[in-house]
Amino acid sequence: MKTGSGPAGFYTAEKMLKAHKEAEVDIIDRLPTPFGLVRSGVAPDHPETKIVVNQFSRVALNERCSFFGNVSLGSSVSLSELHDMYHVVVLAYGAESDRVVGIPGEDLEGIYSAREFVWWYNGHPDFSNLDPDLKNTDTAVILGQGNVALDVARILLRPTTELAKTDIAYHALASLQTSSIRKVYLVGRRGPVQAACTAKELREVLGIKDLYVHILEDDLSKSTFDEEELSKSRIHRRVYELLSKAATSQSSHPISGQRELHFVFFRRPVKFLQSDDNGGKVTGLRLEKTVLKENGGSGRQSAVGTGQFEDLECGLVLKSIGYKSVPVDGLPFDNHKGVVPNIRGRVLSNTSMEPVILENGLYVVGWLKRGPTGIVATNLYCAEETVASISEDLDQGVLTSTLQKPGREGLQQLLDSRDVKIVPFSGWDKIDSKEKCMGSLRNKPREKIVRWGELLKVAEG
Ligand SMILES: Cc1cc2nc3c(=O)[nH]c(=O)nc-3n(C[C@H](O)[C@H](O)[C@H](O)COP(=O)(O)OP(=O)(O)OC[C@H]3O[C@@H](n4cnc5c(N)ncnc54)[C@H](O)[C@@H]3O)c2cc1C
Ligand SMILES: NC(=O)c1ccc[n+]([C@@H]2O[C@H](COP(=O)([O-])OP(=O)(O)OC[C@H]3O[C@@H](n4cnc5c(N)ncnc54)[C@H](OP(=O)(O)O)[C@@H]3O)[C@@H](O)[C@H]2O)c1
Repeated sequence: MKTGSGPAGFYTAEKMLKAHKEAEVDIIDRLPTPFGLVRSGVAPDHPETKIVVNQFSRVALNERCSFFGNVSLGSSVSLSELHDMYHVVVLAYGAESDRVVGIPGEDLEGIYSAREFVWWYNGHPDFSNLDPDLKNTDTAVILGQGNVALDVARILLRPTTELAKTDIAYHALASLQTSSIRKVYLVGRRGPVQAACTAKELREVLGIKDLYVHILEDDLSKSTFDEEELSKSRIHRRVYELLSKAATSQSSHPISGQRELHFVFFRRPVKFLQSDDNGGKVTGLRLEKTVLKENGGSGRQSAVGTGQFEDLECGLVLKSIGYKSVPVDGLPFDNHKGVVPNIRGRVLSNTSMEPVILENGLYVVGWLKRGPTGIVATNLYCAEETVASISEDLDQGVLTSTLQKPGREGLQQLLDSRDVKIVPFSGWDKIDSKEKCMGSLRNKPREKIVRWGELLKVAEG
């Protein structure tokens, strides 16, 4: 049994089916649609990344595998019920919340987490109503400089004629087509040496047609610690080189009407601003200049405030400082790290690791296991590790594998008794076909169905 049908869940299912010829694998997901962030996170203009769903679909169609869409761990079924019904339960439900900045004004209107904004433009049914106001401001600030921040900047700045050919949600395309946002600031609390993005994604945003890019050349000067950091990381070296090249080749000022991307380094947010007369909407951000301090031999430099402040005006803020997992009832959870405590995927019954007590038959994989970092393929290695732990435990007789458990039939009965409308993989197939058909009418790979009611109706067919 796997909960969560993102990359971590599917890679685990694939490895389990291969390693254990007698195993049956059921995958539950709270959405009627499978594939997790490959559908609702990966940017619409990255179609090549989504090809992996063909591999995941082959897994779902394996006769020993079953998909239970629209089944939520925690509300449709509890963890202890799953535990009673299956020999092995693998948790793969990702990270569906956000790190918070924790500064005054964070709940003002016009401030969203990148997760919410991404779910909006990718047509996740929980956020298709978000409707961020892109019309009453020309400036957006994105906090963070990781790959998600770059995705969000690209979506805001890329010509909509290009986005129109992608599977971006219709409501988002319509809103971006009338957007008045011309300037996007990407704010990092540390410097260009520490930027968390990767070179391919940076090159892509820098290459947006007709874009004015601004980087302060002074920000590119390096300390000896910076040099040391760069010598250890090829990724950071390539990012730094690209930023340096962009800084030296930039024009002195934008030409009229040109969209602008500003990289702001060494600034940390201290307060979201509002004016007295605009009804709780964000109007800007107070930033504190920072310097970097080496963290007592850790090799990591942290940003430290200097007491010098400046304000940046904007009407939209997207916080892209990382996702966060949430616990479900009865699950050991490390609130500080936002992960399920585990050793090589085996869930520990407490966070302290001392003494080490394992939760029998309970495993974890993906972002819920490692924290919210890593690309799709990282979850393949992560799944291999978790499945290796399961196999070892089966070999050593740690699991109660000889006891009869109700498994798939038991789950089906329980969900039926609760009137849960299960969406099987054949239901997803119907959604998939309808979306592709609607997409072809608009010259797009698919037009996503973005409302719960319609998704369930189409799945029922
Ligand atoms: C915005 C964004 C863009 C990205 N772009 C790329 C990219 O271009 N290339 C790349 O290689 N990587 C990309 N990544 C990284 C990649 O998406 C992740 O590494 C990967 O999706 C993590 O897999 P996961 O299975 O752990 O989590 P997820 O993909 O989040 O899957 C979790 C699944 O669990 C389900 N779920 C949640 N709660 C419950 C519950 N209570 N009960 C049942 N099911 C539940 C969810 O519906 C979801 O289907 C991106 C990440 C983000 C956030
Ligand atoms: N195309 C792709 O391959 C692709 C696309 C999207 C996402 N992904 C992957 O998905 C994962 C998640 O990406 P992500 O961008 O969400 O996370 P991330 O890579 O961890 O970046 C988070 C950013 O937020 C900053 N930050 C964190 N806490 C902060 C705070 N309190 N105040 C200000 N800034 C703060 C970090 O700065 P510090 O460095 O100073 O902490 C960093 O710049 C990554 O592994 C990413 O590579 C891949």
